[in-house]
Amino acid sequence: MSSNVIVEVRNLHKVYPSGTHALKGVSLNVYEGEFLVVIGLSGSGKTTLLKCINRLEEPTAGTVKFLGKDITHIKGKELREVRTHIGMVFQQFNLIKRMNVLSNVLAGKLGYMKTLPSIMGNFPPQCIQEAMKNLDIVGIKEYAYERADKLSGGQQQRVAIARSLMQSPKLLLADEPVASLDPATSNSIMQYFEKVNKELGVTVVCNLHFLSLVRRYATRVIALKSGEIVFEGLPHEIDEAWFKKIYGEEAEEVEIR
Ligand SMILES: Nc1ncnc2c1ncn2[C@@H]1O[C@H](COP(=O)(O)OP(=O)(O)OP(=O)(O)O)[C@@H](O)[C@H]1O
Ligand SMILES: [Mg+2]
Repeated sequence: MSSNVIVEVRNLHKVYPSGTHALKGVSLNVYEGEFLVVIGLSGSGKTTLLKCINRLEEPTAGTVKFLGKDITHIKGKELREVRTHIGMVFQQFNLIKRMNVLSNVLAGKLGYMKTLPSIMGNFPPQCIQEAMKNLDIVGIKEYAYERADKLSGGQQQRVAIARSLMQSPKLLLADEPVASLDPATSNSIMQYFEKVNKELGVTVVCNLHFLSLVRRYATRVIALKSGEIVFEGLPHEIDEAWFKKIYGEEAEEVEIR
């Protein structure tokens, strides 16, 4: 793995208008090619951290650099350009339910387009080919013309991954991408993230709940607690003592296989 820094976060703070101090001086590097997993209790700031990285949320203080460029306060065209390199996958898939799978994947291309050809289905043939190739990567090419809401949760998440690949992202952010899925499906979805990471070389930052998945897929782990980093290391270094420190004395590990 190279040691090039793709994201550099320094002393990041996020205070929401409500007054909640969600991130309290977070500093971390994301290295090119790694599969970094962020863990922590509900409310610890995991989603806020991902959203500050692609600027869906505005950091209150501190800096975020992407490939060496300070993106903390960029706006408009400059921000859109940076975002084309950063894919995002959500817990709830966020597909357009009434559209077919292919159209949903093609929608991932919109950041690159000057107009909105998709609405009328006027994508150039090479875009459609690319969409089919990305559907093939996640193993659901045969569903291209099905309506998105006819698919199972796991299949919908695979569509969301294919959609994110339309950007040819350098970085893929995934916010609890398997939290709505059953254990077997969770593992299969994680394997697609692993494939995207290892075979396509996309750096992944993924928020996860279950430690067993963390141990299986993460190349490195960061734990947040009340908006601060309390652990940074390798998955196997999270022993029982660390587990209790991260999740609290009362917590017990739930296995997902
Ligand atoms: N848009 C918002 N406005 C106000 N407060 C928010 C907003 N989003 C998150 N928060 C608060 O910021 C803190 C961190 O929330 P965040 O969603 O980042 O945590 P999380 O680790 O992703 O939690 P979960 O595991 O439940 O998804 C919480 O106290 C939350 O209530
Ligand atoms: Mg969250």
